[in-house]
Amino acid sequence: MKDTDTIVDTARFPRLDQFDFDSDFNAELDDFPRDAVPSFLSVLPEDQYRVALGAAWLAYNEGVMLGERDFVIPAAEMFADNPATRDRAAQFDRVVVEEELHILGSMRACESVRLQRGLQDLRFPHWHVADALNDVQDSAARRGYGDLAMLAICFTFEATISSSFPHLSRDRVIQPSHSAWVARHAEDETEHTRLFLRTMPDFFSSLSYTDQNRFVGAINSTLVAMCVPGASIWPTVGEYFGLRYENEVVADLVAPVTSLERVPVVSLNLHRALLRQPAPEPKE
Ligand SMILES: [Fe+2]
Ligand SMILES: [Fe+2]
Repeated sequence: MKDTDTIVDTARFPRLDQFDFDSDFNAELDDFPRDAVPSFLSVLPEDQYRVALGAAWLAYNEGVMLGERDFVIPAAEMFADNPATRDRAAQFDRVVVEEELHILGSMRACESVRLQRGLQDLRFPHWHVADALNDVQDSAARRGYGDLAMLAICFTFEATISSSFPHLSRDRVIQPSHSAWVARHAEDETEHTRLFLRTMPDFFSSLSYTDQNRFVGAINSTLVAMCVPGASIWPTVGEYFGLRYENEVVADLVAPVTSLERVPVVSLNLHRALLRQPAPEPKE
């Protein structure tokens, strides 16, 4: 695993200059959509509630960085080298560069919100989705196919992540620089989703029957892992403000699939995409 500091080369990302989170900051605007945080925080006085929304924006960006650093970048590098997907090496290299940009932008967003909202001492001990995805990869590694599981995690993440962005842009009264940053990320991720859905059938057909089953199994485990509610984030935010989090189920800040009931459908659609079968028409 590479350290974030070593994979980010600031000179390569002049486009990031358009995001100045500090200069564009308006303390009267929310940092994160109010309907994307659990209701136990709403007992806070308005000024503290605003800080809690800043904590949610911080948590969202930290989660994005972890997923991109630990799973998407290493897997995109592997796809760039894999014989079945190597003809798209330049496009996977581009994914790596864009994910590095997303990490850098999210780092800046975190620094800014910590400073603006006085959150320098708030630390999230674990990002539960990253922990759960690490478990998926570790358990596959113990059975000898850790790399394959990592590719399945990356494919699942990249093929579904675009669906999480509309959720974040529902509330348009957040900081303009925050919604612009989410929109910029969404633009890149739409392209990544297309690339993965176009490329992966050849990779999948190059696998043995056993590995195809392992790959589909890892997709399923990844989707289930993404559905665990924000069990490690909200207690930390609650504790920070002296409140007790009562295990209220809320959509995770980063994971694109938000309910266990949706897992079989999403999994089936991804499997069909790998087999180049069209997704079934949604029922009325
Ligand atoms: Fe990204
Ligand atoms: Fe991506």
